Amino acid sequence: ADPSQTAAPGTTDNAQTGSGRQIDPDKPMVALTFDDGPYAPVGNRIMDCLAQYGGKATFYVVGERCASYQAELQRMVAEGHEVANHTMNHKYLQKLGAAQIQAQANQGNDAIQAACGVRPTLLRLPGGNHNATVMANAGMPMIQWNVDTLDWKTKNAQSTYEAAMTAQDGDVILMHDIHGPTADAVDMIVPALKAKGFQMVTVSELAAAKGINLENGGAYGALR
Ligand code: NI
Repeated sequence: ADPSQTAAPGTTDNAQTGSGRQIDPDKPMVALTFDDGPYAPVGNRIMDCLAQYGGKATFYVVGERCASYQAELQRMVAEGHEVANHTMNHKYLQKLGAAQIQAQANQGNDAIQAACGVRPTLLRLPGGNHNATVMANAGMPMIQWNVDTLDWKTKNAQSTYEAAMTAQDGDVILMHDIHGPTADAVDMIVPALKAKGFQMVTVSELAAAKGINLENGGAYGALR
């Protein structure tokens, strides 16, 4: 049976895994997102922490890296995280033409699906910039962020933690799962968010809980 058809009113399911995980739409929630992996030494630490506290995250992975980290990607799927597309080669799509934009999205999806069996439904643009050509050719919803921890720049767990803890209900928090200090920060962020009453949900779960229909070619920040 499709668990989405049996969910209680006012709840949502994890669309990607069909896990039937229940999310309370009346309680605050945020989406932790991690770009530029997969990279198992950091990604597995993040997943260990999320497993301990019951949170889920969204990993925007680079297609060309996926064949090297199949086990990590399969763990993401098995544990209810969302695997999403950060292009095939981490290209700045606003610098490309239509055919190249389509190729970066499609090849990224192909590589991710080959590695973990799930085809992503969400795209994040490297650098975060888009233009009309990107919007017309990406073919997927483009999920950006509204809380930028600058973890890639500071490589400092405390400042990453402090930035993440400014998040409000519906926010999308940007981090990168290729730096050790980001995993150190996650070890502080996840229990602290939970203590403040936040549910840590995937981007698709967040959109569904807020009643937001993510459209192909649309660009999104916070999901409120
Ligand atoms: Ni990136």
